This record gives sequence, C-alpha cells and structure tokens, in this order.
Amino acid sequence: MAARRAAGNDARSIALGVSLSASWLAAGVPLMVRVPNLVELDVPQAAAVRGELLRGLLACPAVIAPKYLYDALGSRLFAAITELPEYYPTRTEAAILAAHRDAIAAELPRGLTLVDVGAGNCEKAARLLRPLRVSTYVAVDISLEFLREALERLQQHHPDVTMLGIGSDFSSRLRLPAVLGEGSRLLFYPGSSIGNFMPAQALDFLRQLHAAAQGGALLIGVDLLKPVEVLERAYDDPLQVTAAFNRNLLRHVNDLVGCDFALADWRHRAFFNAAQSRIEMHLEARRGVTVRWPGGERAFAAAERIHTENSYKWRADDFATLLVDAGFTVIRRWTDERGWFAVFLAGA
Ligand code: AVJ
Repeated sequence: MAARRAAGNDARSIALGVSLSASWLAAGVPLMVRVPNLVELDVPQAAAVRGELLRGLLACPAVIAPKYLYDALGSRLFAAITELPEYYPTRTEAAILAAHRDAIAAELPRGLTLVDVGAGNCEKAARLLRPLRVSTYVAVDISLEFLREALERLQQHHPDVTMLGIGSDFSSRLRLPAVLGEGSRLLFYPGSSIGNFMPAQALDFLRQLHAAAQGGALLIGVDLLKPVEVLERAYDDPLQVTAAFNRNLLRHVNDLVGCDFALADWRHRAFFNAAQSRIEMHLEARRGVTVRWPGGERAFAAAERIHTENSYKWRADDFATLLVDAGFTVIRRWTDERGWFAVFLAGA
C-alpha cells in the first residue's frame, strides 16, 4: 500500500519536473532551479525491521545485516573510511575509472540513464555524469536522508541532468519505478558492494541487475584477492574509524529495536577468512553481557561475537564467469597495476 502510494507520487513528480523544465526552456528561463525528485520505495515497516533484527540477535551465532551500518552517522563514517590510507578500494577504483573514462564512454550511447545502486554520497557517479553524457541520473540508497543532501548538492553542479533519488533497501530485491520507462540503462554498482553477498546471492543479485539494465549495461567494481596483511589493515585501521563504523551499528539497532547495547562492552573484530575468501567483521563482547529489549533479551558470553559483515574478495576470472552466468557478456575489464581491484563493463 505504502509502496503503491509512493510510486504514484513518484510518477506525478517526474511528469511535473519534465513539463516544468520544458516550459521554462520555451520561456528562455535557465534551468537553474531544477531539484531532484525523491521517493521512498518499499518503505521499511518498523515491525518487520524489528522482527528481522531480533531473529538475528537470537540466532547462534548472532548476526546483524550490514545494511544497518548505514544510518546517517554510519554513512558519514563510511565516507571517512574511504579517506583512510589503509582503505585502498575506493581510491583504486576511482583511479581505474578516471584512467578509462573515455574507453568506457566509447562503449556507451549518449544521453544515458545512469542507475547508481547504493549511491551513498554520489561522489563516484558525479565524476561520470559529464564524461558518459548522462541525461538522467537515478540514485538508489537505503539512507534516503543522506541521499537527499548529496543529490541536492549534485543537482546544483549539473542543472541539465534529470535526477531522481530512490530510498530503497535493494539488498533483497532491486526495484525501479516503472516511470523510468523501458529504455536501456547503465547500471552502476561500484565500490565492491557486491562483496557483501555470498557467491550464490551475488549471482542472484547480478541477475536482478541484468534484468534492470533492460538491454543496457553494467559498470561494476570488484575487490580482488591480495595479501592478507593488506586486506586486514583496510578493515582494522589504526585510527579505528572502521571500529567506530562497526560499533555505531549498535546505536542504530538500539534505536530500531529499543534494546540497550552498551557500546563500551563491544569491540571491533575484522579478519580474513581464507576458506571463504572474505573479510569478516564482528562485534565481540568484552565481558559477559545481557542485552534487553521490550519483550526479550539475549545473553552473550565474554568473547562471543555478532557477525556484522562479509566482504568477499574475488579472483577477476571467477568474477567474469559469475557475470556470464548472470546473463551478461563481459565487454571490458580493467585493473590497477597491482591487480588489487577490477572494474568490469558488461553488456546486458
Ligand atoms: C561498502 C561493502 C564495499 O566491504 O569494503 C568498509 C564496507 N566495511 N569497511 C567493504 C566496509 C568496512 C565496504 N562496502
């Protein structure tokens, strides 16, 4: 019901944006006041969120999904992580994209619709809007408030690009409003966010991206296997920004569930699980603690953990195979000279 209402509003607001700009154009008025449209799809129901979180808290071992890392503060802490010298993925990917922008543009039609999945602060896509001649920018993120700020800022620098922000938890199912039309799209899934999914789920999610591209393409960034020390330093930095990012999850969960996690009782753990080829993040109890919420509780022994994130590290060849299994044709593949990160352009 809520989703349908949101989609209806959305359809109206887009139609309005287009007709306004058309009439302004006709009147010779510059398009300086265009504002991004924002909609929320699949508005998370408080009870469902609470139910999902409590199931995870009561599981053995306990687990909290990584999407809950991104409340407004968590999104800012993640942005700070990307500035750390130890956190190589963002910077390495940005260098690959900058070096090959023209080659990427040459493979794509002009007047693109760019769909940025997990847009965050929209910084990565911002650098592609002009080189890729994007006419419509669609930013999808779980944190709509964070997205609103980023999009409003971006719109000022790109008054000629139609912008739409979609607040949506795309981790289980990617939905795009029908009003975007049936034309082909470039799906952009950077930052190795695909690494949050276990391989079987990654395949499923890539199939959804394939369908959403509607015959267009996918530009995706994937973090690669590398020496363990480099990996572990990136997820357990000496300034402890990643620790703050991980522990902030408990504040967010306290808000959502009404529980009483004391942050001082929990420490950040991050290590490479070689058998699974993934970095794992956990929160580890410093002592025996009982966490209470309205209607329940969970006791944790000293050193017991809550699993908060997986970040898979792929071999480039294995990821290319995964793309093909999902229905894509791999058009191009680029890496940095150390071979730490890969960007794929795949046809849908
Ligand atoms: C946003 C999922 C790509 O796995 O590297 C960074 C999240 N977690 N530091 C990653 C993250 C800890 C990040 N992704």
